[in-house]
Amino acid sequence: MKATARAHTNIALIKYWGKRDRSLILPMNNSLSLTLDGFYTETTVEFHDYLTADVFYLNNDCITGKAYQRVTSFLDRVREKAGRTDVYAEVHSVNHVPTAAGLASSASGFSALAAAASKAIGMQLNNQELSVLTRQGSGSACRSVYGGFVEWEKGLKEDGSDSHAIPIVPANHWDIRVAAAVMSSDAKKILSREGMERTVNTSSFYPSWVESIPADLITIKKGIMHKDFEKVGSIAEANCLRMHATTLAAHPPFTYWQSTTFLIMEAVRDLRSSGVPAYFTIDAGPNVKVLYLPEDEETVQHKLRSIAGVRDVIVSKPGQGISYV
Ligand code: PMV
Repeated sequence: MKATARAHTNIALIKYWGKRDRSLILPMNNSLSLTLDGFYTETTVEFHDYLTADVFYLNNDCITGKAYQRVTSFLDRVREKAGRTDVYAEVHSVNHVPTAAGLASSASGFSALAAAASKAIGMQLNNQELSVLTRQGSGSACRSVYGGFVEWEKGLKEDGSDSHAIPIVPANHWDIRVAAAVMSSDAKKILSREGMERTVNTSSFYPSWVESIPADLITIKKGIMHKDFEKVGSIAEANCLRMHATTLAAHPPFTYWQSTTFLIMEAVRDLRSSGVPAYFTIDAGPNVKVLYLPEDEETVQHKLRSIAGVRDVIVSKPGQGISYV
């Protein structure tokens, strides 16, 4: 009863922002992401008859507290689904996602955990079923089941059985780059969970965010199919700005941006005015990810590294979905 899985993290180009069901993690809107090859989590799960509770090691440290609770509650769902509420697991996870890059390790983490745990306990889930299960650990993680460009369909059912990712095109369809600009910052975080809830409940801009999604999705998917970089980049950037606008209209208002965030956004606009197609996107934090084409590698790296407050630039290509090791 042992399995090891590897999952990569993903970056949303059309953001998931807001839940309609907290416990099942059902989103208000569809979202669309690119799985990234540079950042992944590898997780081994082994169920033992003799254990009386789960144990969780992350990068060889034994984890307790909230992070442990999230893992063990997720394993409860796996046990229930498998009809094996009598067994507990030893979980070993190794994260290859530099936390400083501001990429969600929860996406690769829960995706690898769901794959390894479901296999170890003897379930043979297809990717769609695995995505439904993964979603219940962390929403954005359900997209990491697949490689390349991926859409998460919000679904319509109350039980969440139709809320899962679907692959659009595989990683080898299009060679683009995503650079994560790493900044020196230890500002207090508003977790995505809290941020979403506050905007859904109080932001006067929230309804127009939800209304804007279908049109963005149609345009960006056309752009992806035709490898129209300007179309994909400009939709992703505008979608990100609209998501962040909802936080400014929340009560109390808040923003994830810091001064360096603005400097990077300006640098990306500068690149564009000098003829280099580059676009930014930002998740629930101050870090900025920049989309560009391989031929502009040097120019983009140089520009980003020259910004005061940027400590490092980590580049990724499109990556693969779940694999078993
Ligand atoms: O799945 P969570 O709770 O980490 O939320 C992710 C939210 C965003 O990163 C802001 C957007 C997204 O679609 O990944």
